[in-house]
Amino acid sequence: MTTPSDLYRQALEATDTPILRRTLEPVAADPARFGRMFYERLFERAPSVRDMFPANLASQELKLGETLLVLSGHLDDLDGVAPVLRGLGQRHHRYGATQMHYDVVGKVLIEVLAEVNGAGFDARARQAWLSLYRWTVQAMGPEVDAA
Ligand code: HEM
Repeated sequence: MTTPSDLYRQALEATDTPILRRTLEPVAADPARFGRMFYERLFERAPSVRDMFPANLASQELKLGETLLVLSGHLDDLDGVAPVLRGLGQRHHRYGATQMHYDVVGKVLIEVLAEVNGAGFDARARQAWLSLYRWTVQAMGPEVDAA
């Protein structure tokens, strides 16, 4: 039986892994800056989300870039990271993250990636990131499913 996970993974394999890695280069160069840009934009778009996070965001800002970099290191073995993502999804259920939150996080994430990459972020890059984000959210568990 073909599961949603298989479908997302097939979509991802059809896209270029090098595109994902290349567009992560500006994130790897300065993960804290990327994190600051992401949270600033997220709280602009969804102000109510601010209270879900600790007052001091310094360590949180770093975690976002690090998580993306870890994922990009496992693009050849997504099934290997799936159990880790399942645990992450269960913790997010407890943090109160809902479908609506995942949608806005995905949009903001791709916008900020586009911004830090400039002209290097084309339609293919956007498609590759959409596939990776959808797969990731799907792997995080049945409680969430990115639109
Ligand atoms: C694919 C999407 C996401 C990824 C990869 C991700 C990743 C992470 C990671 C690695 C942590 C560190 C703590 C832990 O491992 O449990 C974390 C914490 C957290 N995330 Fe996410 N996250 C995602 C989406 C979201 C969404 C949609 C929300 C909802 C607004 C959210 C809210 C939070 C909160 C509230 C914390 C805990 C902050 C704290 O109390 O220290 N995350 N996230």
